Amino acid sequence: RKDISLRGLRIMITAGPTREALDPVRYISNHSSGKMGYSIAQAASLRGALVTLISGPVNLPKPEGVEMISVVSALEMYQAVHQKIEEQDIFIGTAAVADYRMQEVNAQKIKKKKEQVTLALTLVQNPDIIHSVAQLKKRPYVVGFAAETQEVAKYAQDKLKRKDLDMICANDVSDVEIGFNSDNNQLLILTKGGIEVTLKDSKIELAHTLLTMIKNELKLSQ
Ligand code: C5P
Repeated sequence: RKDISLRGLRIMITAGPTREALDPVRYISNHSSGKMGYSIAQAASLRGALVTLISGPVNLPKPEGVEMISVVSALEMYQAVHQKIEEQDIFIGTAAVADYRMQEVNAQKIKKKKEQVTLALTLVQNPDIIHSVAQLKKRPYVVGFAAETQEVAKYAQDKLKRKDLDMICANDVSDVEIGFNSDNNQLLILTKGGIEVTLKDSKIELAHTLLTMIKNELKLSQ
């Protein structure tokens, strides 16, 4: 249902991985490609939505017509989101945000010492961006993503409740045909209202179907 207009809807999307610096030359990150978030941003923009894409470091061209804010770390992503969240109708968190960052980033490159065969790093928890959005008094419609490697439905349902989301889209990243760097994806979509559907398609087609579902849910809640 690509023909259903999203004109005037303000949608914020987070995408890609975050990078957490260890020192000036090293970081911790993950394999998120950003493709799902960028596909949603592109699809939404083509259908008339006003899209703000907050992206970690990825190798993808900026989708046409969207306002893009590039960030590196989870804390930067958190700040970028909260700067404009009050204006949004919909928030879609596709970013694979690092759960932890260095308690203190080393100012200088960490040196290898021959006699030191183990190295302990102390990490602290990053804020949960989507949960912080879901807790706002004036909150947008909140859609989360979950990459799981087992018991997808159970963990997705848990996350929907725990993070107080309106909708969650979960995929099985242990399947090489779908998930992280793939162009295709299989999503299990659950809503707070109890809708449960499985969709399998290219990321761009999934993006369109998902946006239409969100628009319908928004209409129902108004
Ligand atoms: O808990 P988990 O990381 O699996 O949850 C995934 C969902 O939560 C995604 O929508 C992701 O963008 C969001 N998230 C977030 N901030 C974090 C961790 C996850 O917004 N620190």
